[in-house]
Amino acid sequence: MNTVLVGAQWGDEGKGKVIDFLTEESDVVVRFQGGSNAGHTVVVGDKKYVLHLVPSGVLHEGKHCIIGNGVVMDPFDLMKELDQVKSWGFNLLGRFHISERAQMVMQWHRALDKADEAARSEGRKIGTTGRGIGPAYADKVGRSGVRVGDILKPNFEDIVREHVEDANRKLRSLGAQELDPEEMVRLYMPVKPALMPYVTDTIQFIHEQLESDKSILFEGAQATMLDIDFGTYPFVTSSNPTAGGACTGSGVSPRCIDRVIGVLKLYTTRVGEGPFPTELFDEDGETLRKRGGEYGATTGRPRRCGWFDACVARFARRINGVDFWAMTKLDVLDTFPVVKICTGYRRPDGFVYQTFPMDLDALATCEPVYEEMPGWMCDTSHTTDYAELPENAKRYIERILEICGGKLGVLSVGPARETTLRINI
Ligand code: GDP
Ligand code: IMO
Ligand code: MG
Repeated sequence: MNTVLVGAQWGDEGKGKVIDFLTEESDVVVRFQGGSNAGHTVVVGDKKYVLHLVPSGVLHEGKHCIIGNGVVMDPFDLMKELDQVKSWGFNLLGRFHISERAQMVMQWHRALDKADEAARSEGRKIGTTGRGIGPAYADKVGRSGVRVGDILKPNFEDIVREHVEDANRKLRSLGAQELDPEEMVRLYMPVKPALMPYVTDTIQFIHEQLESDKSILFEGAQATMLDIDFGTYPFVTSSNPTAGGACTGSGVSPRCIDRVIGVLKLYTTRVGEGPFPTELFDEDGETLRKRGGEYGATTGRPRRCGWFDACVARFARRINGVDFWAMTKLDVLDTFPVVKICTGYRRPDGFVYQTFPMDLDALATCEPVYEEMPGWMCDTSHTTDYAELPENAKRYIERILEICGGKLGVLSVGPARETTLRINI
């Protein structure tokens, strides 16, 4: 059984937690896009682990974890994270692999990310994580990126010098500080010995695993509404976090994929700039942020919070072909007397969009159309069986399924590993 797991909203749906849960029944976990902009949290006992580049399956000894070719990898972020994972007591050698085809996020990509954000006028800023993601993917498609395999080449130092010259031209035009090529060469010297043991042909490795009937779990980072093609462009990330990205980002055919799981938070959050039709600016929004601990796992920024948006979820089900939902954070809604589901966006002329429009200016004129439902006003965080849930909580979940389609596969009622209910999968 090969599974793709994707975020269905604007990120931070609880993908890390669900990946950790599904790793139990998988042999290999593959990250297929994004970079250290991701922050995936797994809570085991009283310990909280936050992963950025290393797949969230790493907390299960013996499972293979892969950084696929579609990822953009900052070697310093990765080295720091590998040290952390080792300090937590997990062994990596022989089970952690980096694609030699993955792109590197270099210091100049980070500098360009910051300079580009600074140069944008109000209203055009993206609110990126500042991890160099956009410039690294821009170099990839511009055919001038640095790949992981390049670190192993004897002329790596020259490659660095050449790229710094190019980057300096761009930095200059943005009025930003230039980088010293020789300093960059020195900076990158420790990278080869640190990462060499893990660099491999992951395409060969993944296909050997497929051929011996191993189960592969493809871990998406970011989410559908941050997708470069399907998200709220230009307020998006620079990769394809949707299900198709799993194939291009790891080197497998769509025929290998048996099921797609979409992770859906039972309300909505977003970090950074960009449209968010159901955003709340009142006490309810504050309650969601406090009860849900909605602060960025990567940047610590407070997340914007709002009601559940069924237009987004329906759009995500279609784009990704979601078979099952992993619904998370039901417990956060426990204290609300009323819960709301957005079913459309009404334009001033009365027209109601039921799917996510391309035109963000038109969207900005819309009001969300809500269905209100009674809350359940009791603690769901100790639920171990779906049947035990309060009737109003079941009604809320079932109404979402009715509007959006797809089946419920996993329900999460707390941050810890044990607070995960297996429903249909
Ligand atoms: P990811 O980026 O999709 O992996 O999500 P993040 O880790 O950035 O954010 C999800 C946050 O919610 C983390 O702090 C998780 O520990 C927490 N979390 C996940 N599932 C649940 C849940 O069902 N209930 C509660 N209260 N917290 C959850
Ligand atoms: P996980 O995997 C939430 C957002 C940033 C910004 C936009 C572009 O933890 O769900 P980038 O640095 O990628 O160029 O920023 O995308 N963003 C995320 N928001 N969760 C994430 O990852 C995100 N990764 C990027 O806040 O708005
Ligand atoms: Mg996150």
